[in-house]
Amino acid sequence: MDDDGPQDAASHFQGKPLGGWGLLQIAGCTGLAAYSVWALVLMPGFRKVPLKLQVPYIPASTKQVANVMSLLKGRSGKMVDLGSGDGRIVLEAARRGFGPAVGYELNPWLVRLSYFHAWRADYHRRVSYRREDLWKVNLRDCSNVSLFLAPSVLSLMESKLLAELPADARVVAGRFPLPTWTPSSIVGEGVDRVWAYDVQAVRQTTSAKKEDAAI
Ligand SMILES: C[S@@+](CC[C@H](N)C(=O)[O-])C[C@H]1O[C@@H](n2cnc3c(N)ncnc32)[C@H](O)[C@@H]1O
Repeated sequence: MDDDGPQDAASHFQGKPLGGWGLLQIAGCTGLAAYSVWALVLMPGFRKVPLKLQVPYIPASTKQVANVMSLLKGRSGKMVDLGSGDGRIVLEAARRGFGPAVGYELNPWLVRLSYFHAWRADYHRRVSYRREDLWKVNLRDCSNVSLFLAPSVLSLMESKLLAELPADARVVAGRFPLPTWTPSSIVGEGVDRVWAYDVQAVRQTTSAKKEDAAI
């Protein structure tokens, strides 16, 4: 009797070299699967964002979220998360009394997921998740800013923050520090580490450095 079961099928592959065509097919399928995940899940909505500014979705760890909040303790007013992902930092900020609490996120699936989390926590009226390019948002009224972005874009981000933020603003960067700013405090270890920067102090240091360079 013919046996076409899975074991039999597997035995066809055992001990047989795959050959060039087989390897090409596997490489093609893997590439297609990786591209589909990238295009449909990680980066939808990024068509108009230059490639060098594209940052994929990596969620902050629970400890990282707690560390961000600890560096914003005692503060109030508007809080924004630039590239808000699944929205947990914005939701936590709203829970702690920040308002308005706003997330900017280009990926429409993550915006939906964020509202779902907020709705489940009964905070959907206290948060706002906007499907906008963070590079096009004017930050002049944002006193509390959090970000967790790729190191490759942080230098450009420093210039944007310095040009737009109000003097009393505090910026909290997760996982990767801003490359030239001096932090006012740091908490956490490894991937949970976060850095806080007070904009007024950063502006003073930056202009002092410029004066030194001019002498
Ligand atoms: C590393 S994840 C961080 C997510 C979230 N802030 C957290 O800490 O869990 C970076 C997020 O920024 C979003 N993002 C990247 N570039 C963006 C842009 N130009 N405008 C809006 N969102 C962007 C990505 O889609 C991604 O969700």
